[in-house]
Amino acid sequence: MPSGPDHIGTGTAPVPLHVAIIMDGNGRWAKARRQIRTFGHKAGVDALRKTISAAPGLGVTHMTVFAFSTENWRRPATEVSDLMGLLKAFIRSDLDRLAREGVCVRIIGDVAGLPADIRECVDEAHQRTRDNSHFFLQVALNYGAQADILEAAKTFALQVKSGEAALDDLTPERFGGLLSTSGLPPLDLLIRTSGEHRLSNFLLWEAAYAEFVFQDVLWPDYDGVSLKAALDEFRRRERRFGAVEASDVASA
Ligand code: IPE
Ligand code: IPE
Ligand code: MG
Repeated sequence: MPSGPDHIGTGTAPVPLHVAIIMDGNGRWAKARRQIRTFGHKAGVDALRKTISAAPGLGVTHMTVFAFSTENWRRPATEVSDLMGLLKAFIRSDLDRLAREGVCVRIIGDVAGLPADIRECVDEAHQRTRDNSHFFLQVALNYGAQADILEAAKTFALQVKSGEAALDDLTPERFGGLLSTSGLPPLDLLIRTSGEHRLSNFLLWEAAYAEFVFQDVLWPDYDGVSLKAALDEFRRRERRFGAVEASDVASA
């Protein structure tokens, strides 16, 4: 059986559906309850659990979630360390079940820049789920799209320098293959919760033809019902990819 993301989705769903989520609003959720921000992040982990378990049943084959951005280091040190602790606890408590349920977990982002104990958890998650193919979960951790794009540009520059590639070999497909998200189907739907309308340096390249759905719900309140609402909205959209509708061509 092939390993890695290329085989994901084949056989389990006729059409891969790749959904990304900017899980936002934990702090405001906690504040509304007069609690510290970490209380919101804890509730956010439960929301993630619920959303992941609902996703395959709703036709989603691939999911990319934004867990920690390269900019989130600007937060107070206690919040950062609480977030890292929660991520570690999530992997420790849920990895057995995810592995059993056939979920392939991949962490993208600057893993080398994470604390050693988190790097160990990341390695373990990769090792134990790499051959799974029921559902593909990509977690963006210490991730920034601009840095990812710069890394890909440097890799290609080195390939040119060494003679492995020529400048004219560079196509969107080849460049996309050098990004950390390589091997996944194109991003179909990008969701951001909490009413904010920005990308915050997430999947800048991959979102080229994604549909955007912004939901007012704060992330800790998110679940399968919220995801279904976003998918219903997505299915009402007409995706044109720069072309025109077939019916318009016929009547022209
Ligand atoms: C999202 O919630 C979680 C992370 C960024 C890790 P926030 O912590 O950004 O919550 P708000 O935006 O302050 O409400
Ligand atoms: C984006 O949310 C990062 C994650 C959800 C992990 P932020 O809350 O950090 O984004 P900004 O600062 O409001 O743009
Ligand atoms: Mg936020």
